[in-house]
Amino acid sequence: MPISTVSEDELKEQRLFIQRVRAVTHVFDHKPLAFTHSYGCQQNVSDSEKIDGMLAEMGFDFTDKPENADLVLYNTCAVRENAENRVFGNVGALKHFKEKNPGMIIAVCGCMVQQEHIAERMKQRFPYVDLIFGTHVLHKFPEMLYSIYEKGRRVVCIPEIDGAIAEGLPVRRSDKFKASVPIMYGCNNFCTYCIVPKVRGRERSRAADEIISEVRELIKTGYKEILLLGQNVNSYGKGTDTDFPALLRELDRLDGEFIISFMTSHPKDCSHELIDVIAGSRHISHHLHLPVQSGSDRILKLMNRHYDVGKYLSLVDYAREKIPDIQLTTDIIVGFPGETYEDFKMTLDLMKRVKYDSAFTFIYSRREGTKAAEMDDPVSDEEKGTWFRELLDVQGEFGERAYEKYVGQTLRVLCEGRGRTDDKLLTGKSRQNIIVDFAGDDSLLGSFADVKITKALPWALVGEIVKEE
Ligand code: SAH
Ligand code: SF4
Ligand code: F3S
Repeated sequence: MPISTVSEDELKEQRLFIQRVRAVTHVFDHKPLAFTHSYGCQQNVSDSEKIDGMLAEMGFDFTDKPENADLVLYNTCAVRENAENRVFGNVGALKHFKEKNPGMIIAVCGCMVQQEHIAERMKQRFPYVDLIFGTHVLHKFPEMLYSIYEKGRRVVCIPEIDGAIAEGLPVRRSDKFKASVPIMYGCNNFCTYCIVPKVRGRERSRAADEIISEVRELIKTGYKEILLLGQNVNSYGKGTDTDFPALLRELDRLDGEFIISFMTSHPKDCSHELIDVIAGSRHISHHLHLPVQSGSDRILKLMNRHYDVGKYLSLVDYAREKIPDIQLTTDIIVGFPGETYEDFKMTLDLMKRVKYDSAFTFIYSRREGTKAAEMDDPVSDEEKGTWFRELLDVQGEFGERAYEKYVGQTLRVLCEGRGRTDDKLLTGKSRQNIIVDFAGDDSLLGSFADVKITKALPWALVGEIVKEE
């Protein structure tokens, strides 16, 4: 599968639009201010960093108060209904600001508006929204914005094509020491409950040399954690002569002290080779987020997940054997259409068997246009709620004590900021991707320290520095 990238000519054209917007905002009586907010997953956060990068080049500064902004942008998520409801509520609340400041530009982009019926609703319900654009045209943001300034008319751009990969867009990173690097876009898995393949299109992998040179550059400029992003990183490079373990091996060869982490790993093609690469690596995080979704083979089949509980458990066992200190986390859906209490109990059994360090748990949300939306769903919301609470109790029992095994160990910790348990402490992240708070001064920020763990909380560790560098 050849990699389709946005042409250099097209990118040049967008850079021209960046200059044109700059010329428009230059005559404002103040420096233009943007408020941007991202809903949903890390992929969206990463897209927003590119939007912010383009805005910065267009002359914008940033504010955390939408009422003060000349441009408000929401980058939206469609994965569950409550994510969408929140956006409708927040866009509704902007009406008031726009009345006070009619020059304010309001933009809504991302996964939610990539769905035709939602974009239509957004257009009808909020006539004061100036710009609506989907997930495939991010790089055309300068052109769309310029068109609004020039013509004073609303712009809606939601092509159904799979977006080509745009390399070299400016990025305004939200973190000082941690950098997200998308390695692939889209998803080909079509889990029957999930809207992502519809709103993000088919899988497209970035060229390995682009990724490697971006990571090399980031490390050179002082980033200490590189988060590789993809809906299913294990599919990276499918149809080409490279794959995810090979990419990780290459990145692990880079020199310096840093952590490479990744999200998300689909169990159907999480290979022993991948686990071996992590086990033998210098830099790769000892954290595997391996979403299981359900502990019932019957439900996994209806979900189109392409693995069964047996295969999943043998992967977990292999990972724990090869990487004894690995942190294992998961995603679970409760109340998939047709799920019975018997099926649900199998999920509880699986959780008791695996004893995850933590689990992200969701009640099934019906997504228009997915296969599961057509399935019979006889269990009431109330009953699903009861199951959900039972699941939280079971996970709570293990989660509460999951980190106790680290007490007494010395972990290498990347110091990132002021403490989360106490702001007199520093906070950081261990190679297992666990939050660690400890006493230390600000000169340690952005470097690694050895910390002896003295206390385990359900969501973090507390310790003392044993050696400074
Ligand atoms: N690509 C990732 C996950 C993307 S969405 C993966 O396959 O693991 C993140 C999580 O949201 C999923 O793992 C799933 O647990 C949950 N999710 C997705 N669609 C959902 C829906 N319709 N209702 C409830 N939860 C859902
Ligand atoms: Fe959705 Fe499944 Fe793709 Fe994850 S792998 S994004 S859950 S379709
Ligand atoms: Fe949401 Fe889109 Fe991510 S639907 S979870 S923001 S890919």
